[in-house]
Amino acid sequence: MVKERPKCKTGIEGLDNILNGGIPRGNTVLLSGACGSGKTTLGMEYLVNGAKMGEISVLISVTEPSSKVVANLRGFEFFDEALIKNEKLYLLDMISLYARLGIEKKDYRIEDIDPLINIMEDIVKKLKVKRLVIDSVTAICHQLETKVRIREFVFNLGKTLSDAGCTSLLVSEVNPTGAWGLMPGVTYSAYGVEEAIADGIILLGAIERKGYMLRTLHVVKMRGTMHSLAKHILDLTPQGVVLIPLLKWGAESG
Ligand SMILES: Nc1ncnc2c1ncn2[C@@H]1O[C@H](COP(=O)(O)OP(=O)(O)OP(=O)(O)O)[C@@H](O)[C@H]1O
Ligand SMILES: [Mg+2]
Repeated sequence: MVKERPKCKTGIEGLDNILNGGIPRGNTVLLSGACGSGKTTLGMEYLVNGAKMGEISVLISVTEPSSKVVANLRGFEFFDEALIKNEKLYLLDMISLYARLGIEKKDYRIEDIDPLINIMEDIVKKLKVKRLVIDSVTAICHQLETKVRIREFVFNLGKTLSDAGCTSLLVSEVNPTGAWGLMPGVTYSAYGVEEAIADGIILLGAIERKGYMLRTLHVVKMRGTMHSLAKHILDLTPQGVVLIPLLKWGAESG
């Protein structure tokens, strides 16, 4: 039997099976999808499940204030606000990161990217973070402008997080056309360089069935483990993310 690396169990129904037990520890995984595809919900469920297992879990929310993230999470049964109070789950936004850097948001410059990586490293080490989600890495990449800078940033970030023993999901925003699946020319990130550096890619997409849009998920790559390539239906329920194999779903619904 092939011996695989230690796994970080996502606790998400169906996903650990797809990943043959979970994400290999230390991997930096791109969580790619168009708007509304379920990236933030899946990322938060991953963190909340980790926090419930006693692992320090951190969200760095780049696109919205953490207060808004909490407000949206209250609609899901998996969320437990006590995890924040008990310092197992940290929801940080850019305002709190900038405050740590001692700069005001209006002063933000591209040159601030290195200190930003340092501050993330500092947080991961000081809090002994085991799980990190950056929502989204695309928003940070927009600031960097060139592919060379983006490549350098994602590479350094991935190395920093992996060296610190952290298993990370980097949320990647792609346009709706790109999210439709394995079409020629499809990309998994806004700049096309992030996916080459990431250890894994989980792609959220959509398909149309009888006039309804259905959310989908499939694992494109995951270094360090065997995994299923099957496309799954991703259902966002009040309990959280539920994954059903597409073939099975089709058979049941006719
Ligand atoms: N309590 C809930 N129960 C079930 N589904 C919900 C609930 N709250 C939100 N949703 C669904 O989740 C969707 C949003 O998912 P989510 O925010 O995870 O997507 P996203 O990919 O992060 O989107 P964006 O690109 O805008 O950040 C909503 O459009 C809604 O359909
Ligand atoms: Mg989101």
